[in-house]
Amino acid sequence: MKYIYIKTWGCQMNEYDSSMIITLLEKNNQYSLTKSAENADILILNTCSIREKAQEKVFHQLGRWKKIKNNNPKVIIAVGGCVATQEGKEIFKRANYVDIIFGTQTLHRLPKMIDEVEKKRKLSIDISFPKLEKFKYFLAPKKKGYTADISIMEGCNKYCSFCVVPYTRGNEISRPCDDVLFEISLLAKQGIKEINLLGQNVNAYQGPTFNGKVCYFSELIRLVAEIDGIERIRFTTSNPLEFTDDIIEVYKDTPKLVSFLHLPVQSGSNKILNLMKRSYTTEDYTSIIKKLTIARPDIQISSDFIVGFPGESEIDFEKTIEFIKNINFDMSFSFIYSARPGTPASNMNDNLDLKEKKRRLYILQERINIQTMLWSRKMFGSIQSVLVEGVSDKNIMDLYGRTENNRVVTFQGSSEMIGQFVNVKIKKVHTHSLKGELF
Ligand code: SAH
Ligand code: F3S
Repeated sequence: MKYIYIKTWGCQMNEYDSSMIITLLEKNNQYSLTKSAENADILILNTCSIREKAQEKVFHQLGRWKKIKNNNPKVIIAVGGCVATQEGKEIFKRANYVDIIFGTQTLHRLPKMIDEVEKKRKLSIDISFPKLEKFKYFLAPKKKGYTADISIMEGCNKYCSFCVVPYTRGNEISRPCDDVLFEISLLAKQGIKEINLLGQNVNAYQGPTFNGKVCYFSELIRLVAEIDGIERIRFTTSNPLEFTDDIIEVYKDTPKLVSFLHLPVQSGSNKILNLMKRSYTTEDYTSIIKKLTIARPDIQISSDFIVGFPGESEIDFEKTIEFIKNINFDMSFSFIYSARPGTPASNMNDNLDLKEKKRRLYILQERINIQTMLWSRKMFGSIQSVLVEGVSDKNIMDLYGRTENNRVVTFQGSSEMIGQFVNVKIKKVHTHSLKGELF
């Protein structure tokens, strides 16, 4: 038996890909996962290049692994994901002890690449973009807890001026609708209650069907809701572009779709949205939220923001803060703009100093925190449906689970409730977590 160690950076898509790499390598009991890099025969780094000095981070990590390889030259080091796709052979030029370089669309070829390296002991590299081929090789996802991520589409065609995703994950392509439904029904049979449909732009989904038609995102959600055992449906990430009325309609008639939506806006200034090439305005965004609120009066919205984009003036930033108040976002992921090599925005004049960018990020996050707390307080005394995930780490007398709006609730209960939905009355409120009693 050989051991694999895997380190994953980045988004849920990367986490999903890594879990697929593990199931693929564990097949036929060839390899087993280890938690210690020192014990591993194969070290795998699944990288992310969305922000920061991604390349440097990769080489630092590889430097640490080089020491392991010095002690045991048989160890195989594989680098994959977005940095590998962008840098290709350059990785080997700087770290010639790397054995495998694989891309976001070629991870299913890893077992073959490992065999090759074991036989020939020379670099194996494949960062090509075979469309959807990897999904043919992926095994049915294994149950982990009571909620599961399932990839429904890959890549992105939007080419926002700041973003590397279209270059690292390729063009948008949707998985066949029947494959997605089949996998979800397998998961439901294993006891999965909640499904998270994954993709860079899930609302652009156009999956081919067995009879040669196209299944759009709204239809896919309705079909997933019909699968026995699936009680909750989430999705990440969607885009304000193509957030069409048929999707808003689903909120009216499909209660299994949660009243919580992550819809990244990035900025509250139309000037900046235009420079970002987001192709919508704040007015378009507001109109979507208004329609959603009519369809689902209790809907809560979260978002992503970038501060300090080239050309963002104080007034543009203030517009973003105003927008945050107007939409009344519940939560956000917010980031300082980071110039990404090869993107159009990296040629723009990024003249704001870091101190000012940090100040803006701080103000934005403070504002969001206030709103998160206000949304939490609104939940005080309410009865929430909670999907029980397990026993709390902090107190073994408590169970914990998640509400529809993704907040963690702890409460006293018995172990047979794990994996079930229970009603909990909220008795104590913190910004991100809640305490309650069975109702
Ligand atoms: N498809 C999603 C975005 C996925 S990338 C959408 O439509 O918005 C996840 C988040 O990372 C983005 O929403 C953005 O806020 C952030 N991000 C992407 N590129 C970035 C960059 N160059 N600098 C800072 N943040 C970035
Ligand atoms: Fe990136 Fe814009 Fe697509 S942020 S993932 S290019 S929608």
